[in-house]
Amino acid sequence: MVGRDLTDALTSRDETVVALKHSDLDITDARCVNECVAEHRPSIIVNCAAYTAVDQAEAEEAAANAINGSSVELLALAANEVDALLVQISTDFVFDGAKREPYDVTDATAPLSAYGRSKLLGEVAAQHAARSLILRTSWLFGVHGNNFVEAMRRQIGKGTNPLRVVDDQRGRPTYTPHLANAIIRLAIQDARGIVHYADEEECTWFDFTRAIVEETKAEVTVKPIATADYPRAATVPAYSVLSTERYERITGVHPESWREGLREYLSVRA
Ligand SMILES: NC(=O)c1ccc[n+]([C@@H]2O[C@H](COP(=O)([O-])OP(=O)(O)OC[C@H]3O[C@@H](n4cnc5c(N)ncnc54)[C@H](OP(=O)(O)O)[C@@H]3O)[C@@H](O)[C@H]2O)c1
Repeated sequence: MVGRDLTDALTSRDETVVALKHSDLDITDARCVNECVAEHRPSIIVNCAAYTAVDQAEAEEAAANAINGSSVELLALAANEVDALLVQISTDFVFDGAKREPYDVTDATAPLSAYGRSKLLGEVAAQHAARSLILRTSWLFGVHGNNFVEAMRRQIGKGTNPLRVVDDQRGRPTYTPHLANAIIRLAIQDARGIVHYADEEECTWFDFTRAIVEETKAEVTVKPIATADYPRAATVPAYSVLSTERYERITGVHPESWREGLREYLSVRA
């Protein structure tokens, strides 16, 4: 999702982009990573590749760690060879969700899941780059991939009524073109260290679903349920609202609105 939208955003700004699919470059392959970086000599490497199957990672932690952790060190070392900035995308799932106010970039991490632990390894690995930016984001949806909006639309399409959705997890949905804009703004400012970007406002999955139903004018009822009523393999944070204060300070702009992103998404994705 992010890779495609970032490529589009950069291309529309006439930036030179080398966009690589998994089949073009396996980031776990050190030789290929080094050759690729030596060939293209990028000034910025944005790592949009990841193992993103959160529940599956519980049974495949080694695979998640290899892609989300060790590979990032390969990218960091390759970035150093050409003095590139490494932008590593990370997640709200590095937090345990015990707080009840937005997570700041300086808050302690304590992932609850294998996926979260693998992404935290990636954050540590990214810091092997002399110039690195770790950009944590949350609850992504974009037209080039599977996501929560599509899952809800599929349920609506199948005639599921009511939709039962978790109402005791809070976060910030983020439209991937908005994240792409944020990455570009931060790169322009040569931002370093850890930054959070997520769209406004915070909500629960139940609230988000109600917005999807309203925007699609679907004739379904949405019923709130508790996390305990929706068992899944991975434990996810009950509260993972990211504070975007540092992002706003660096770029001078407020985060965009997921509701507007949702409208655009629905107009673009058939
Ligand atoms: N989705 C979310 O809600 C969310 C929330 C917070 C943070 N993030 C982070 O945001 C970033 C982008 O996520 P996304 O949702 O855009 O992910 P995505 O749509 O699942 O895309 C991940 C991409 O990585 C590729 N990939 C997997 N293993 C690879 C490897 N070894 N070498 C090269 N490419 C590989 C995948 O290719 P194949 O499919 O062909 O394997 C896929 O194209 C990730 O770092 C993710 O952890 C996501």
